[in-house]
Amino acid sequence: MKFETRCVHTGVEKDSAYNSCITPIYPTSTFYWDDLTTNRGYDYTRSGNPTRRGLEENLAALEGGVDCRAVCTGMAAITASMFLFKPGDHIIAGNDIYGGTYRLFSDVFTNQGYKFSFVNMRDPAQVEAAITPETKAIWIETPSNPLLNIVDIEAVTKIAHANNLISIADNTFLSPYLQRPLEKGVDIVIHSTTKYLNGHSDVVGGAVITKKEDHQERVSYIVNAMGLGCSPFDAWLVLRGVKTLGPRMEAHQRGAMALARMLDEHPKVQKVYYPGLESHPQHELAKSQQDGFGAMLSFDVAEDRAFAEKVFKNLKLFQLAESLGGVESLIEYPETMSHASMTAEARREAGISDRTIRVSVGIESPEDLVADMRNALDA
Ligand SMILES: Cc1ncc(COP(=O)(O)O)c(C=O)c1O
Repeated sequence: MKFETRCVHTGVEKDSAYNSCITPIYPTSTFYWDDLTTNRGYDYTRSGNPTRRGLEENLAALEGGVDCRAVCTGMAAITASMFLFKPGDHIIAGNDIYGGTYRLFSDVFTNQGYKFSFVNMRDPAQVEAAITPETKAIWIETPSNPLLNIVDIEAVTKIAHANNLISIADNTFLSPYLQRPLEKGVDIVIHSTTKYLNGHSDVVGGAVITKKEDHQERVSYIVNAMGLGCSPFDAWLVLRGVKTLGPRMEAHQRGAMALARMLDEHPKVQKVYYPGLESHPQHELAKSQQDGFGAMLSFDVAEDRAFAEKVFKNLKLFQLAESLGGVESLIEYPETMSHASMTAEARREAGISDRTIRVSVGIESPEDLVADMRNALDA
């Protein structure tokens, strides 16, 4: 089946009792047994649930993995993947990753004895140089949040394979419609399904998709043992959202490209970060490993923070809110919002300034979005 068909059909047929066309929600904590040794495949919802299973089958098929575990948030997915490692292990990550991931690594897991190096992942040589005898994994986030830097997935996974390291990619920003890291040599993909996979800003969720049986077995064990699985209702919402992933991503991208082109020429904008622009330094790399450029973009205003604040106030269609990937356009200020959990020093090191604004372009008319943003900048 082609991608869009898998979005609609995989993991959906779960109702043998009444033939409902849509996967039912099984809001049960437990399942009764037919006798002391026989159940119908499920015994307790923390360990497994038919609605959640539907979503897991769907997402595994979209990413090209052997299996998936659907969990309660994107951070839970990242946490589950981190429990493949132990104190003393060293992991290499980009220095411009999502602020929450940075906090989890640099604070929570560092306090547990894990070691991290945050490097400029645009340069695979820096990844190679950071490898120590304790290194066990490379964490890839591409495009990165919020500056849309691109990591060369094949170059980095080549380094991982040569050094016997596990590679894990956060594919939240593009979704499997636009990028499938497992096909490029990555071992494990994680998602915040809160974003494009659900697509409607009405649920938080996450997923861990694995390609190798041993990773799959361990991730399943961890998700059950730690109790990270998502609720049947949340799984159902994401499964509903994912059916329209393809058409939504196409609409998202149309708006993003129109907005990026306008911003690129606007005198009040100093710099636009969008890999779809030919002027983006990694445009060719993005083109070679992605099936599109997505709908996240950032820009630096030409003036100070007060001007940025004025822009937020003048916008009518873009809501000032964190998160991304929903049908409505959102705008946010990494300095005090999505990346506030990084130190100011770490933000500057990553290239995030107090002039940086991040936009999640929704599926509204590109014409309306461009007009709204132009008005806010001109006002
Ligand atoms: C790239 C990326 N990964 C992971 C997460 C965490 O996901 P969640 O908020 O669902 O826990 C986010 C949240 O914004 C994100 O942007």
